[in-house]
Amino acid sequence: MAEIRIDGLCVDRGGKAVLDSLSLNIASGEIYALLGGNGAGKSTTLSTLLGFLKPSSGSVLVSGIDPSTNPEAARHKIAYLPENVALYEHLTARENVDYFLALAGEAHSADEIDAAFDAAGLQNEARNRTLSGFSKGMRQKVAIALAVVRQVPVLLLDEPTSGLDPRATADFNALLAKLKARGTAILMVTHDLLGAAECADRIGFLDSGRIVEEVGREQGYDIMALHRRYGEAVVA
Ligand SMILES: Nc1ncnc2c1ncn2[C@@H]1O[C@H](COP(=O)(O)OP(=O)(O)OP(=O)(O)O)[C@@H](O)[C@H]1O
Ligand SMILES: [Mg+2]
Repeated sequence: MAEIRIDGLCVDRGGKAVLDSLSLNIASGEIYALLGGNGAGKSTTLSTLLGFLKPSSGSVLVSGIDPSTNPEAARHKIAYLPENVALYEHLTARENVDYFLALAGEAHSADEIDAAFDAAGLQNEARNRTLSGFSKGMRQKVAIALAVVRQVPVLLLDEPTSGLDPRATADFNALLAKLKARGTAILMVTHDLLGAAECADRIGFLDSGRIVEEVGREQGYDIMALHRRYGEAVVA
């Protein structure tokens, strides 16, 4: 069963059709990268999976749950990293994780949380520091640790590597590979074609709310050809 099912999805915003019969399934252990220019409808797709926007027609299911009728249950299955991770600056990394776990109604031991920080690659000495001195990459590690400890089946990422340096991007992609190996279904929205080619099993190109082309790792990614076709919408 696909963890993420999007079928003939149409979404209107401000009286305008933003998603136009979008269909997309993502299985457990699969990484899907959704690329497209500004305004193509990438974030709108994520907002609909999170239940913040409702389909005008078509359907979405997250782990078998319809977020348009049951948003809280759907969000329980999802870890979501928005472009700018929203965490509390005056709390430590550990306190942030504790706080968001409490909000999600989940309790985990300190050992489990440390194991998640280990998996996310957040150094020991950083775990008890407040986030005010953290870089963007470190903040993402805190958010990823939260996703790891919650063991959610679905991870949604909105431009996760924008603003990360190459080293942090490589670390981040390695982390996604770990989550994939655990069976997480991952939908990543990005403008980064090379990064997507490195870690995604499939890449879909979104234009005006529909997928105009989809390529899979097994056929091999022809980066030059993709860049010629979509170079105005993506970075490579
Ligand atoms: N809050 C809103 N109210 C009305 N229309 C919106 C709203 N947010 C986005 N839109 C419109 O929906 C369309 C798709 O926006 P969306 O944010 O999904 O694009 P995107 O692919 O994520 O783009 P970007 O690469 O800039 O993040 C755009 O035409 C945008 O103007
Ligand atoms: Mg967006």
